[in-house]
Amino acid sequence: MRIYRAKDYLDLSRKTARIIAAQIIMKPDCVLGLATGSSPVGAYEMLVNWYEEGDLDFSKVTTVNLDEYRGLSRENEQSYDYFMQKHLFGKVNIDRSRTFLPDGTAADGEQECRRYDGIIQSVGGVDLQLLGMGHNGHIGFNEPGGFFEKGTHCVDLAESTIRANRRFFESEEEVPRQAYTMGIGTIMAARRILLIVSGKEKAEVLSRALSGPVTPEVPASILQFHRDVTVVADEEALSCCTL
Ligand code: F6R
Repeated sequence: MRIYRAKDYLDLSRKTARIIAAQIIMKPDCVLGLATGSSPVGAYEMLVNWYEEGDLDFSKVTTVNLDEYRGLSRENEQSYDYFMQKHLFGKVNIDRSRTFLPDGTAADGEQECRRYDGIIQSVGGVDLQLLGMGHNGHIGFNEPGGFFEKGTHCVDLAESTIRANRRFFESEEEVPRQAYTMGIGTIMAARRILLIVSGKEKAEVLSRALSGPVTPEVPASILQFHRDVTVVADEEALSCCTL
């Protein structure tokens, strides 16, 4: 595991964007696993800038996102599909038919999970998986629990996740209670993983994830078993780490 210490969020975003850009330059037809939330917004902004300056070409890139709220359509401003369109897909020359997210409106949840796993398989798996981490150590929406889930599944979001995501909605009642997420097995099958963590409120859980016991109670701790993980975290997030 490589750990890069970033000065602050801007530095974290720059380092993250550079790693993603290097992946695209080295393999223009790569498959990127992408995340939403606050953590990657700065990096996406830099990737857009580099695209606008002519330094990056997304035309052959395929993307699969980690998760999507159940019940939200892609037109819904709180959906992750909408988020990706707003922060990245709508601003670069990516072929929208090669950007994949679970379909929050699917009638049959189980079938949707199998369909999404099929897509990830059919694109040949993920070259670089970008991950944020929740305050409770979740990755994707794999919440703390008794075991690691393998494939895409539908989850009941933890109360702490609903509270954390409240900031994007008008009221807590509007925050969806369920989401589709890639499983831990799929995340671990990515050839490379890039975990980005910012802020002191995640410092303790980051230290447990990086150097505590590997346990489904801290889902991100499973990354200790992956052979190619890069962590980019700012000083605040690393403030409890002794590594
Ligand atoms: C988002 C996702 C989540 C977030 C995590 C951190 O697609 O999979 O695991 O990465 O909740 O969210 P932020 O970055 O908003 O703190």
